[in-house]
Formats: sequence, structure tokens, C-alpha cells
Amino acid sequence: MILVTGGAGYIGSHYVQYAREQGEALVVLDNLVYGHREAVPPDVPFYEGDMGDRALLDRIFSTHRIDAVVHFAAYAYVGESVQQPARYYQNNTVAALTVLEAMRAHHVPYFVFSSTCATYGNPQYVPIDERHPQDPINPYGESKLFVERILRAYDQAYGLRYVALRYFNAAGADPQGRIGESHDPETHLIPLVLQVAKGVRESVSIFGTDYDTPDGTCIRDYIHILDLAQAHAQALDRLRAGAPSDVYNLGTEQGYSVREVIAMCERVTGRPIRAVESPRRAGDPPRLVASASKARTQLDWKPRFQDLEEIVRTAWNWECNRRF
Ligand SMILES: NC(=O)c1ccc[n+]([C@@H]2O[C@H](COP(=O)([O-])OP(=O)(O)OC[C@H]3O[C@@H](n4cnc5c(N)ncnc54)[C@H](O)[C@@H]3O)[C@@H](O)[C@H]2O)c1
Repeated sequence: MILVTGGAGYIGSHYVQYAREQGEALVVLDNLVYGHREAVPPDVPFYEGDMGDRALLDRIFSTHRIDAVVHFAAYAYVGESVQQPARYYQNNTVAALTVLEAMRAHHVPYFVFSSTCATYGNPQYVPIDERHPQDPINPYGESKLFVERILRAYDQAYGLRYVALRYFNAAGADPQGRIGESHDPETHLIPLVLQVAKGVRESVSIFGTDYDTPDGTCIRDYIHILDLAQAHAQALDRLRAGAPSDVYNLGTEQGYSVREVIAMCERVTGRPIRAVESPRRAGDPPRLVASASKARTQLDWKPRFQDLEEIVRTAWNWECNRRF
């Protein structure tokens, strides 16, 4: 059985749905600070509580026969992490350590970790592979990098086996429209743009139009949520089959600029989208694109959504019919 922390959040809930359909037995822990109870299927045991609550973790590990933790729970607002670093180190690093300590006490052997391309900081080269130096430029990225370092030490000292998955930009929704992205506040580009198309926002800001990129706007690698879900499942399969701990980038290896994303959203929705050119934001690298060949070869990971249009279609379907 798998304990999924943050399983009511955007990526976690898609993983829960995917793994459940693969026949995995799951239990979800989420404090619902950002997650949605409705995003978790009613037949999956659900604990509303904090991952930093050691007594609760002890109860969960004593009640269920858990062999793995898939760990999505974290705060993930980069700007907020600069303003309130304590909140990020406390939740993303210290509370994660509480989870690892509880796992150690209950002899839970496997851990799959939501890491991020933000652990790399400003890219020294693109596409970014796993050997790229990790030098985060904000407390969010640092709070995640600390966990990667803790995992390495736990593996060496205690034999915990883990996979850290460094995602690029998660995007899209369940193609059947049952669940999708619902953040408050929303900071991710695709839902923001689609909400303009839907008429619930007036405009979307383009932060910086003078970058050294073909159209002057920032380029990002958008990876579909189901492809992320599948990679987690494959990473855990590999650990269970005896593979050593490892780290993998997850991205499509294709970059799209902000203007290209907006143009694609106009095409998919058939509606005009008002974009307002705004100054650059501090700490936005011009181009973040993954090299994901390691995951493709070693995890046998085959992303299905290679095309931005398909990703946007699933997000638009959700945006038009969202339940939460
Ligand atoms: N969205 C992306 O593009 C992206 C990219 C790279 C990495 N990540 C990482 O992926 C993970 C999931 O991201 P998301 O976009 O789904 O975010 P999300 O906010 O939708 O999901 C996180 C979930 O964790 C829960 N949570 C937070 N702190 C908790 C705690 N102390 N105890 C219990 N539950 C807690 C929240 O309520 C939420 O449901 C995060 O770790 C994030 O850092 C996300």
C-alpha cells in the first residue's frame, strides 16, 4: 500500500487516480490547505491532517501496511517563498523530515519525491540534464534541494531507497475531465490564460518581452500531468524491483514561449485572449527546458502528451466543466 502525501493537490490527485486505476492500494494524507477533498476518489482512505504531525503519521503507518510514500505535499509558490522563507523551510523541508523519520521508525522502504527544476537555479546550459549544477535562486527551490540531500544521506545511512523526480512545468488535466488544476491563488500560465478565454479574468500578464528568446518572452517545458503520474508509478515499480536510488528530470524536452502558449490557447478555445505586456519578474530564467532522456531510457517512461495542443485541450475541457 502507498501513502500519498498531498494527494488532494493538483499533481497528487492525478497520481492517485492513475495509480488506483493500475490497481494500487492507496491512502491519502492532505491538510487541504491547497488541496480539494473532491479531487480524491471516495473509496480511497483519506486523512485530513498535517504531514508534520508525527502522532498522525504513526497512526497511519500502524493502521495500514504501507511499503512506499509518494510525497507531493509542499508549498509551491516561488514568490511567496522569498517573502516567507520560514513557511517553506518548515513545511517543505522540516515536515518532510518528519515523514522520513516516521518511515524509518515503521520500516517503510521506498520514497518517491516531487522535486523540481527550481533546484537547478539559473541554467548554465539548456536542455538541462540531471548533472547540471544545483544552485537554487529562491527558498522554494532550496527547500526542495535540502530534501534531495537528506534523501541521499538517508539512503547511505539507513538504506532508504528513493527516486527524486525533478519536474518542469506541470500542465493539463485528466482527459476525462474528472479532476484538474484548481489553485488559489493561481499562478500557472495555462490556467490563467484559459480563465481569460473563459471570461473570469480580464487579461493575463506577460512578464518580460525583452528576453533573449525568439519572441522575447520566457520559454518553459510543459509536461502533462498524466505523464507525470505515470513516471511516479514507474519509478516506484523500479524501486520495488530492487533498483538503487536515483534522480530523473521529467519534461517533454520541448520549450514553448509565453506568447506561443497564449496563441495555442486562442486556437484551442477559439476565443481572443487579452495579454498585457509587463516588466520582467525577478528570478525568471529566460529558458527552462529539460533533457529527460534518462527517464525515457532507465524508467522506460514514454510521455503520451508530446504536443502542447493536446495538453491545452485537456486543461480547457477541465476549465469549462470544473467541479472545484
Ligand atoms: N505544479 C508544478 O508545475 C510543479 C513543478 C515542480 C514541482 N512541483 C512539486 O509537486 C508537488 C505538487 O505540486 P502541485 O502543483 O500539485 O501543488 P498543490 O498545492 O496543488 O498540491 C500540494 C498538496 O499538498 C498539500 N499540503 C501542503 N503541505 C502539507 C502538509 N504539511 N501536510 C499535508 N498536506 C500538505 C496541499 O494541501 C496540497 O493539496 C509539490 O511538492 C511541488 O513542489 C510542482
